[in-house]
Amino acid sequence: MPRRLTGFTPSGDLHLGNYFGAIAPIIAGQETTDTVVFISDLHALTLEHDPAEVRRRTLEFATLLLASGVDPQACLFMVQSHVPEHTELHYLLEATTGYGEAQRMIQFKEKSSRQENVRVSLLTYPILMAADILLYDTDEVPVGDDQRQHVELARTVAQRFNSRYAPVFTVPAAVNPPVAARIMDLSSPDGKMSKSAPSPAGVLRLLDPPDVLRRKVMRAVTDADTSVAYDPRRKPGVSNLLAILAACTGDDPHRLAAGFDQYGKLKEAVADAVVRTLAPIRERYLRLAEDPDHVRAALRAGAGRARERAGAKVRQAKAAIGLLPE
Ligand code: ADP
Ligand code: TRP
Repeated sequence: MPRRLTGFTPSGDLHLGNYFGAIAPIIAGQETTDTVVFISDLHALTLEHDPAEVRRRTLEFATLLLASGVDPQACLFMVQSHVPEHTELHYLLEATTGYGEAQRMIQFKEKSSRQENVRVSLLTYPILMAADILLYDTDEVPVGDDQRQHVELARTVAQRFNSRYAPVFTVPAAVNPPVAARIMDLSSPDGKMSKSAPSPAGVLRLLDPPDVLRRKVMRAVTDADTSVAYDPRRKPGVSNLLAILAACTGDDPHRLAAGFDQYGKLKEAVADAVVRTLAPIRERYLRLAEDPDHVRAALRAGAGRARERAGAKVRQAKAAIGLLPE
């Protein structure tokens, strides 16, 4: 069984792009792969943050993942900071990574150039991500392009540790999420739908009520001419609507295009399909959110199981790197 792992950082609001790009593929594979899904709350501390917001979002993300269909019996489901082995291995891997290697990460360069008070944790966060991945002998990490370089770093660090000390870690690989699931922002379809978008107008949030979802779809930017065709380069707005409809219905965007001759009708069909996909998730979320203790119990059980697995890996790594066993 291939082992797969992914994390969700509790900053911003989860949206339709996260759903089709990350959540749905995990759920589809949770019976046939050994899956680890966690809320990477420590990663939310790399930028300016509000403690109450991080805490609130961590529970919200966990509840939303359960509402979307993550089965805590079928996979390992937990909060990163509840498994202290993540930070323990992080340190051992810091001692295996070059300063220059960490500094070369594109995301670090971009994010650090935009701020004055850069936290050391922003520099070392890809090493924590490597610890997340290597703790569970992960084979596959399904991530978007912006995270590929971090998975490459995890590969390099694993190979270096294995050859210098002892073959402790499985060498992971990044795998592409489904191509059809690169959902673009509805109000500026040249950029992807993102948790950190400057305006929520083009972002279909998993917790938006149906009337808000409809309004956002009906106001989506389309293209200058009026023909309905799937051509992401020349017609990004309409193609994005077709891609969303295709993702919601499991159909093909080219075939769907042939069924519409006006933008208005296409938007209505997209709005219906998005509401059909997200309304049940929101309803399940609202029910589960009434009983946060149930969600917390699932997270606690997950962390307990995770610690058993992660603890064994940390012990191997500590012994290999030269620490005296207790
Ligand atoms: P965001 O860019 O919204 O902050 P993240 O970078 O935290 O999202 O990504 C979380 C997961 O969701 C990743 O696996 C990523 O590939 C996926 N994802 C994010 N945005 C989209 C999108 N617009 N379309 C498809 N998948 C996406
Ligand atoms: N860094 C990822 C993000 O911000 C989330 C994440 C944390 C992750 N640890 C991971 C993803 C390990 C894959 C594997 O989106």
